[in-house]
Amino acid sequence: MPTPIAAQRLADHGLILAETSAVTGSLVFERPAWLFGHRLKNCTVGAFSFWNASGHTAAYRTHFGRYTQIGESSIIGPPEHPMDWFSSHPFAFGRPQHLPSMYQVPDFARLAPDADAGPSYVDGVVNDTWIDHEAYIGAACFVKRGVRVGIGACVGARSVVTRDIPAFAMAVGSPAKVIRMRFSDAIIERMLALAWWQYDLAPHKKQVDFAQVEATLAFFEQCKAEGRLQPLRPDTYTLMRNDDQMTLAERPPLF
Ligand SMILES: CC(C)(COP(=O)(O)OP(=O)(O)OC[C@H]1O[C@@H](n2cnc3c(N)ncnc32)[C@H](O)[C@@H]1OP(=O)(O)O)[C@@H](O)C(=O)NCCC(=O)NCCS
Repeated sequence: MPTPIAAQRLADHGLILAETSAVTGSLVFERPAWLFGHRLKNCTVGAFSFWNASGHTAAYRTHFGRYTQIGESSIIGPPEHPMDWFSSHPFAFGRPQHLPSMYQVPDFARLAPDADAGPSYVDGVVNDTWIDHEAYIGAACFVKRGVRVGIGACVGARSVVTRDIPAFAMAVGSPAKVIRMRFSDAIIERMLALAWWQYDLAPHKKQVDFAQVEATLAFFEQCKAEGRLQPLRPDTYTLMRNDDQMTLAERPPLF
């Protein structure tokens, strides 16, 4: 059941946001999530996601896995405008409810699209973008709508991602190209099979050295085989924003 929530109480539910005005529409999040000072529109965010507190990142209809890391001032999944219409401007392809404040200005309102014209252009095109578990987006990147940045992938600073990036690849530049893989094929296969992001690592953290990839992987593989890795089942919420009112409702974990 959604209940009204004051901005300053979000931290009690494991969500750190500097400016709650940054949330538009809905935000589904697993706790904890550190999404300090960014704009989020209709996104889902997995546990332990960490976004740099400086600058301004914007994310639109993007699904973030667990442990994602987003550098400052990145733009992820922004809407596309139609390139093959008479005009690419929202007056031609939008609906007034997409930009209500704009159409409060009488000059814009004169050319406002019809509210009852049925599905709009944006309803018929690719809408979602994915940043998978543990993916790391460097500072000031652009990720095109519809792209999937794979599990554990790294995107170098100031890159422009226009195509999917495979799991554990490192990609840089504009357009972003893979320069190398983070690990050998064998290690990547074991990482994907282990899927450590599905488990609670905290009880075991003192028994491993995270700088030692092979040894840490082997340790967690053994824990999993012996049933000693507990699934991570974080409290998960839907935060809704309508005008100045925010509500929070519990829901099942995302993963
Ligand atoms: C992508 C990255 C992780 C690669 O680091 P690295 O493994 O040490 O890579 P190297 O410095 O050896 O560079 C490898 C090649 O990629 C190029 N390269 C590295 N980063 C690049 C980038 N962001 N854009 C374009 N090219 C890049 C290098 O010039 C080099 O090219 P060369 O072989 O022709 O000389 C790093 O450069 C980077 O961009 N990190 C992001 C840092 C950041 O944004 N932090 C924010 C944290 S909140």
